Amino acid sequence: MSQLDKKSQAWSALFSEPMSELVKRYTASVFFDKRLWQADIEGSLAHAAMLARQGIIGAQDLADIERGMAQVRAEIENGEFVWKPELEDVHLNIEARLTQLVGDAGKRLHTGRSRNDQVATDVRLWLRGEIDQIALGLADMQRALVSVAAHHTETVMPGFTHMQVAQPVSFAHHLLAYVEMFARDAERLADLRKRVNRLPLGAAALAGTSYPLDRESVAAALGFDSVCQNSLDAVSDRDFAIEFSAFAALVMIHVSRLAEEIVLWMSQNFGFIDLSDRYCTGSSIMPQKRNPDVAELARGKSGRVVGHLMALIMLMKGQPLTYNKDNQEDKEPLFDTVDTVKDTLRIMAEMIGGEVDAATGARSGGLQVKAEAMQRAALRGYATATDLADYLVKKGVPFRDAHEVVAHAVKEGLRQQRDLADLPLATLQGFHAAIGDDVFECLSLTGSLNARNVIGGTAPNQARAQIERHRARLG
Ligand code: ARG
Repeated sequence: MSQLDKKSQAWSALFSEPMSELVKRYTASVFFDKRLWQADIEGSLAHAAMLARQGIIGAQDLADIERGMAQVRAEIENGEFVWKPELEDVHLNIEARLTQLVGDAGKRLHTGRSRNDQVATDVRLWLRGEIDQIALGLADMQRALVSVAAHHTETVMPGFTHMQVAQPVSFAHHLLAYVEMFARDAERLADLRKRVNRLPLGAAALAGTSYPLDRESVAAALGFDSVCQNSLDAVSDRDFAIEFSAFAALVMIHVSRLAEEIVLWMSQNFGFIDLSDRYCTGSSIMPQKRNPDVAELARGKSGRVVGHLMALIMLMKGQPLTYNKDNQEDKEPLFDTVDTVKDTLRIMAEMIGGEVDAATGARSGGLQVKAEAMQRAALRGYATATDLADYLVKKGVPFRDAHEVVAHAVKEGLRQQRDLADLPLATLQGFHAAIGDDVFECLSLTGSLNARNVIGGTAPNQARAQIERHRARLG
């Protein structure tokens, strides 16, 4: 039985009374931080190999550590490993078992290291892996949106401002707006990954260590871009986690906007889309209902992710240098953030673009678009009023005057309960003599769409060019 096990505490000699059960429960983190076990073992093996290279531990010690860690890994993978809350956290649990298995070599592992630089290393290693998976999820999300957009560059829907019908846009153009948001999220993620991917190990408890460590080689072995350059900062910094949470909050805010639109579009009042049954649930009392629960939950889950950002940022507020136990509280918000973002991106991408068959690449079960309903909605609400004003401007009328002329035309349309395109030419000419029979082309929905042929505009050929650009970018 190891020293650690017997005393059930890592620092026992100084202590004359055992920790109360309540304090043990309050301070232990193993039930959640055991999730870091792979990073913990990886980090320990790289540290041990460097200690041996530097002659700080012997070759036999390293061999023993590697053998013991292989067994620890196997036990954890098989579910045989016994996690002990009295050993506080993942680090002490693994080290204690290693020492039980290989004796003194296990006790040498912690040379030139502290749990302070160890935990910071583990969290960064783990988060880096999750970041790479989330990057894939973001790309899938964009691909799903692009795949639907590709079929709808000429599908007209009303674009809204203030939730009022504003101007006609294509459904493709609308979806591609979300692709832009998720593309920026992906940029942010790639950028913050650089700051996550720095190695704290070697900072030891706070001041660095007196052993001749080769930190650069540990960084290279673990795939870190560089080493943290100040030991005090290395053990106390959690801004990499805060930055990641800010990224995650923004992704979820983007998701929540899309989810909200899906909920609206699916409602009877819009009827723009339908969702596959596999993403809807029924009501226990109202037999006619099919509810877009997935979209609603995705919208709702943005709350907890934003909440985690607040938790992490408040966790850091006013913390004096260097490590404080407060930092143990970084894990649960971070873990839940990662889980929520990964699941949400995946389920939303599948609900929109359909599930992709791994063998054939075919998509099934995605968003069903009701083009006629979108078109009908675009024809209500004078979506082409701006086009009429632009038409007059091209005939030499100053824009402000044209705006006023169109206001009168819309008023007449409202009185007659007709769209502008359905008013007789003579009526329209009554508002301005410059109006000719070529006006009806610009009052049509497709005419309006085609007219906005500027980079970033809603014209179908612009949307097609964007789709090409995204496809080339996303692969
Ligand atoms: N479980 C701790 C954490 O999550 C590990 C570091 C503890 N260090 C210490 N000196 N108590 O931060």
